[in-house]
Amino acid sequence: MYIWRMELPIIIVNFKLYEQAAGNADPEALVRVSSAVELAKVHERVAKETGANIAVAVNAVDLAQVCNNVEIPVFAQHIDPISYGSYTGHVLPETVRDVGVIGTLLNHAEYQIDDEVLRQSIDRAKDVGLYVVACANDAEAAEKIVGYGPDLVAVEPPELIGGDVSVSVADPDVIKKSVEKLGEGKVLVGAGVKNGEDVRIALKLGASGVLLASGVTTAENPYEVLMDLVSGLK
Ligand code: G3P
Repeated sequence: MYIWRMELPIIIVNFKLYEQAAGNADPEALVRVSSAVELAKVHERVAKETGANIAVAVNAVDLAQVCNNVEIPVFAQHIDPISYGSYTGHVLPETVRDVGVIGTLLNHAEYQIDDEVLRQSIDRAKDVGLYVVACANDAEAAEKIVGYGPDLVAVEPPELIGGDVSVSVADPDVIKKSVEKLGEGKVLVGAGVKNGEDVRIALKLGASGVLLASGVTTAENPYEVLMDLVSGLK
């Protein structure tokens, strides 16, 4: 079954640069075994077993290898608003697309860019056919950012990122407010999301999915966590 597509509701797991999701899965091996690939395969397994929409957001170095190894949507964590030419150390949207990436996160709380750069980045991403999930700290920022034309806005209260209490439990109002302002089919929410109940609450309040990281990347058993998360999509 080939499931390389973007459909809602969706669970997007941002691998960030957690060692479990960006490191070497087998330091004894002669050639690096990409943890990103290994973890992405767990996501693919859950997506195939359950039919759930699950995507992964991977660091730039591992993107091509992950795309070559799984049939679920793969996102870049960032792209720059540039074209081919005299740039050093930037992430070129065309290259990202050409290795098989479906979309990109932009303006993550850990990589915020100013409004003009965000606007240009969204335009460049759309030019090359990348799906855009732009991040916002709150409902007001989400309302502004949706005007720049991303496909989805992921609302993540920064103070809850990486914590033990989810946005669904700690701040359901930000979900409600964001959906009221942007409408259904436009809002993902994230920060502290860990289980199916967090997903269920988010969807009940009108979100189209969740963006999360540590709940899966640092879990002892990511497969079990993903199965639980997916249960909240129903
Ligand atoms: O991009 C997802 C993120 O910032 C939320 O992180 O660890 O709270 O799920 P976490």
